[in-house]
This record gives sequence, structure tokens and C-alpha cells, in this order.
Amino acid sequence: MKTISGFSKLSKNEKIEWLAQQLSGQEQEDFLNIKDFWHSDEQTQKVMDDFSENTISNFYFPFGIAPNFSINDKVYHVPMVIEESSVVAAASKSAKFWLSRGGFKAKVVDSTKAGQVHFIYQGDKEKLFSFFNINKINLKNAAAPLAVNMEKRGGGIKDISLRDKTDSLENYYQLDVTFDTCDAMGANFINSILESFAQTFQDMAAQHTFFNEQEQQIQIIMSILTNYTPECRVVASVECDVEQLGEFSGGMDAFEFAQKFERAVQIAKVDVNRAVTHNKGILNGIDAVVLATGNDFRAVEACVHAYAARDGQYRSLSSCTVKDNKFKFELDIPLALGTVGGLTSLHPMAKTSLSVLGHPDAKELMMITACVGLAQNFGAVRSLVTTGIQKGHMKMHLLNILNQLEANEEQISLAKDRFEDHAVSFAAVREFLAQTAPAR
Ligand code: MEV
Repeated sequence: MKTISGFSKLSKNEKIEWLAQQLSGQEQEDFLNIKDFWHSDEQTQKVMDDFSENTISNFYFPFGIAPNFSINDKVYHVPMVIEESSVVAAASKSAKFWLSRGGFKAKVVDSTKAGQVHFIYQGDKEKLFSFFNINKINLKNAAAPLAVNMEKRGGGIKDISLRDKTDSLENYYQLDVTFDTCDAMGANFINSILESFAQTFQDMAAQHTFFNEQEQQIQIIMSILTNYTPECRVVASVECDVEQLGEFSGGMDAFEFAQKFERAVQIAKVDVNRAVTHNKGILNGIDAVVLATGNDFRAVEACVHAYAARDGQYRSLSSCTVKDNKFKFELDIPLALGTVGGLTSLHPMAKTSLSVLGHPDAKELMMITACVGLAQNFGAVRSLVTTGIQKGHMKMHLLNILNQLEANEEQISLAKDRFEDHAVSFAAVREFLAQTAPAR
């Protein structure tokens, strides 16, 4: 393909035209169909276009609902945005299962967020610490105008600490700042405060008479929030008597199920191969809610994985105990989410998701999201220790193949019966269709 300069300056149609010229034949025709995915309402499309640069169309993902989540005795029908088949079905099935067994319980442990000013200082450590202690209040005062609105909402800067990081990198220190951003993700708020601290800190150091000339030259490397928010944590759980778990496929009784389930979670605690897939299952649910509500799934993912490896080994985020005839399954997860600001109020579908959830505040959304993660994990591990995962997956896969082969209603129905007890593969389904009523 050719390179282009000034692509961003082209109009949307010009961008599409230029790209189309780089293709030919059927590919070119298919590419031009990209306009079919523009929103019919110009104003809404403009909102989408403005989220990012060089937007030429929209990329659709299914928006589904996992109904009947009872969380702290309140019922939610949870919007999920995900393309992977079986995820919404599994979440819904788990929600229903726990609805009749006391539902989900969740609590937010804390919602503190943080950021750092990373800087280089070459000089006497004690002098730096005493300079910091004297001027800590001045840092806060200088940033006060930026914090007014957040303080009115009950949040603001919580604390500022000076960290000596010279053990890991020569002359490296940080201002480590904690924040309460209320219902906002608060990225802009945190970054603005940090940049203000950095400037004030550097200016004050330059005038500090107890520093020598070199010590006065603090070099700010960068000021940025951290997406590692281990304090912004929520714990979700389900619990019931073992016999209440009921019976499972293949005649497995509740006791055997509980024992196998507990073992499966223990394996994910100690084996990294299993832990990553186990946590991926949790994130199937978490990401889907995070996306549906317009939150930042990359931030959530990055944090969750660092948290899962916090003791040096990557482990399962969920735990299971079977003790004194009680089955307890719990998820402990950091989730920095917001329900105001950013995409949450700009993206029409994110707004819709929040309405469907009854306009939760950030803490409530953290709890809902964690419960969906736990439900997803329960569904996956339940399948794994009973029927195996493929049975459910293949049902959806079969439907995808049938749609791809343009099967009609009658063929779909016949195929569903046939593949109840036959292995699903593209070739097998194609062959089966060839032998049944012809496709439209
Ligand atoms: C598939 O997207 C997720 C699972 O692999 C999760 C798991 O193995 O626990 C089913």
C-alpha cells in the first residue's frame, strides 16, 4: 500500500475514497460498504466521529442484557457489550442460579485512586525530605483552584507522600498522590493536579536556599495517574449450603461438584497456565460491562493483571472454600470505574446502559461489574468441571456456522436436533445441510 501525508486533513468521504483506491475488485466494493455502518442520525454520527481521530465509520459489537442479577438484594438487568458467543448466556444462567440461592453480595473496600510525579534529584536525601515536609501544604494550596469542583462533590486530594526510589534507579524519587474522584474516573482531574504539583515543586526547589545549586535543579520526568489502583477494590461473593447447589449433568451431586469446583479454583491459584485463562473468563464479564458503560477497559485490564500478580506469581482473582457444609465463592478485584464524565455521558449507548442499571454511582457500578465477573467465572468453571466447555460453545458455534451457510429456519431446527449428540464442525454442518432441505 502507498503511504499518505495529510490523511487527517481529508474529509471523511475523501479518506474513504483514498482508501478504496488502494483496493480493487470485490475488496474495494466491500470496503465502500463501510458507509452502511454510519449512524442514520447525523448528529449521533458526529458524536461518534469526534471521539477519536480519522474516524471513517463505526465498528458494531452486540449489546446484550444479562437479566436477573440480585446484588445486595437489589435486582439488575445488566447491559453487556461482547462479541464472544456464550458469555451473555453464561452470565444470565449464573445470575438465575444464584437468584434462588440468596443472590450476590458485594462491597467496595475503598475507591482511592493515585498518581505520581516522577523526578530526578541529585543531592542530600534528608534535605529533600525536609524540603518536602515544609512545602507539602504549599503544593496543595497551589493546586487548590483545580480541586475546588471535586471538593464540592466530596472528593479531592487525599494525601501526598515523597517516595525514595533510589534503590531501583539512581536519583529517582516520586511524589505519590492519592485522590478521591467520587463518581468520575477522574483521569483529567488527577493529571491536572499532578502537573500543577510538578511545576510548583520544581519552582519551589529552585528557590530553596538550603539546597545547593545542583539540588535546586529538580528534573521532572513525567506526571501521570497510575492505572494500578489496588486500593480501588471491590469484593463480590456468593454463598449457599452445599446441598443447595443441586444436581449437575451426568448425575454429579452437589458434594462432588463443590469439591471439584474448589479444586479447580485452587489450581488457578497455583498454576499460571490455568490462572490466566481463569481470569480471562472473569474478564469476559467485567470487560463487557465496562465497555457497555463507557469505561476504560484497557485501564481495568492492565490493573487487574498487575493485581493478580501482586505477590510475584500470577494467580486466580477468585477463591472458593467449601467448609462446614458451606460453598463460598468470592472475587476480590480492583476496578476503577466512573459513572460521570468522559464517555459515560457522551456515548448514547453508555448513557442507555447506565439508565438500564438505574443510574448507579461509581461504587454501585464497581459492585455490579464485579458480580458479573464472578457470575461469568462461576459459569465457566461449572461447565469445565461438569460437561466441559465445548458443549455450550458448540451450540452457539453451530448457529454461527448455520448463519454463515445461510441455512433456512427448517434447516436450523433440523441441525439443532442432529448436532445435539454429533460433533460440530464446518464440514459436518455443510454436509448435513446438503442432505436436508435446500437452503434459500
Ligand atoms: C472463554 O472465553 C473463557 C474460558 O476459557 C474461561 C475459563 O476457562 O475459565 C471458558
